[in-house]
Amino acid sequence: MKAVVYKGPNDVAVEEVADAKIEHPADVLVRITTTNICGSDLHMYEGRTSFETGRTFGHENLGEVVETGPAVSKVQVGDRVVLPFNVACGFCKNCERGYTNYCLTMQPDPQLAGAAYGFADMGPYQGGQAEYLRVPYGDFNCLRLGEDAVEKELDYVMLADIFPTGWHATELAGVYPGDSVVIYGAGPVGLMAAYSAILKGAGKVMVVDRHSDRLALAEQIGAIPVDDSAVDPVAFVKDQTMGLGADRGCECVGYQAHDPSGTERPDQTLNRLVDSVRFTGGIGVVGVFVPEDPGSPDELAKQGKLAFDYGKHWFKGQTMGSGQCPVKKYNRALRDLVAGGKATPSFIVSHELKLDDAPEGYKNFDNREDGWTKVVLHPAAS
Ligand SMILES: NC(=O)c1ccc[n+]([C@@H]2O[C@H](COP(=O)([O-])OP(=O)(O)OC[C@H]3O[C@@H](n4cnc5c(N)ncnc54)[C@H](O)[C@@H]3O)[C@@H](O)[C@H]2O)c1
Ligand SMILES: [Zn+2]
Ligand SMILES: [Zn+2]
Repeated sequence: MKAVVYKGPNDVAVEEVADAKIEHPADVLVRITTTNICGSDLHMYEGRTSFETGRTFGHENLGEVVETGPAVSKVQVGDRVVLPFNVACGFCKNCERGYTNYCLTMQPDPQLAGAAYGFADMGPYQGGQAEYLRVPYGDFNCLRLGEDAVEKELDYVMLADIFPTGWHATELAGVYPGDSVVIYGAGPVGLMAAYSAILKGAGKVMVVDRHSDRLALAEQIGAIPVDDSAVDPVAFVKDQTMGLGADRGCECVGYQAHDPSGTERPDQTLNRLVDSVRFTGGIGVVGVFVPEDPGSPDELAKQGKLAFDYGKHWFKGQTMGSGQCPVKKYNRALRDLVAGGKATPSFIVSHELKLDDAPEGYKNFDNREDGWTKVVLHPAAS
């Protein structure tokens, strides 16, 4: 089958790889119809992780079930399903408590927790930027879609990762109706966090970035765009909140945060959140940070350390939550918001490409070229 394979920094190719197949009685085999490129893929694409050459990318996957293992009872051949990016067992200590983002049995390294398709340090699972995907524990990991599955495919594929992840950022921050919320990053995740805050009834949502196309999408859904190449975002947020700071803040950028000139500043978004969120406010960090980043230009960050304003964070009595999103905690409810016509997260999709065009998609999305806000691939179309 064809798949998007990592060749080395800034290099992917569409190649023939071994066919995905049923390997365990509880597996499901899915023919992928839509699979997205994510900001998390870009950390790997740029060579800033331990992702192995020759592996297949793709953790935001949707498709049609074509085969089920003998132990699968709920999911049927022909079902249209969307897969959480987390690969989880459903029966370990963490899964039982809802933390499928830190599954203990699907991660082979006993020093780590959590697994995902096509992801550095998240187990051996191949990604879904391919014609087919093996889904372990299919009954647990497949979210079945209804009769509008094909019609709303671009909305539903956002349930694999970024819509739940944006929602999770607002949960970690504690967003409540009426709250003022500041979001750093207007990539797909930041836009989904803004959208989630708005769906929850936030009073005022401010989104900080420096790409006008992404900020325009934030404005389109009713958020206030903040261009940090033109204004000081901390002063702007204070000005909008009677000098107090926002009630809640979300980090949707991650460890490759940089200033508008491109110089990496891995501590910038976290420290700006501490400054622009009020005393007793909440901060949700879903942008990825890593235990070590040898490729960082920042000496501390090479060792996974940040010059974090902890004193100010403590003094302000802020709370902060972080980590990968437990997609299963939210995907069913968010599916029903889409089905009920209350949410259309596909508003961020800028490009639909064939699998063969993935290298072009990676290059443009990685360069944050104007207008390339979210790329989806359609393997079945190529
Ligand atoms: N926690 C999770 O489960 C989870 C899931 C999906 C993605 N992520 C992570 O979320 C982050 C964002 O993903 P994405 O797909 O939106 O990526 P993206 O790279 O497309 O978007 C990041 C945006 O942040 C902006 N930015 C960079 N530095 C900034 C700064 N200092 N201040 C304000 N904005 C800045 C960029 O201009 C860009 O628009 C990545 O780290 C990704 O790995 C985490
Ligand atoms: Zn993703
Ligand atoms: Zn588990």
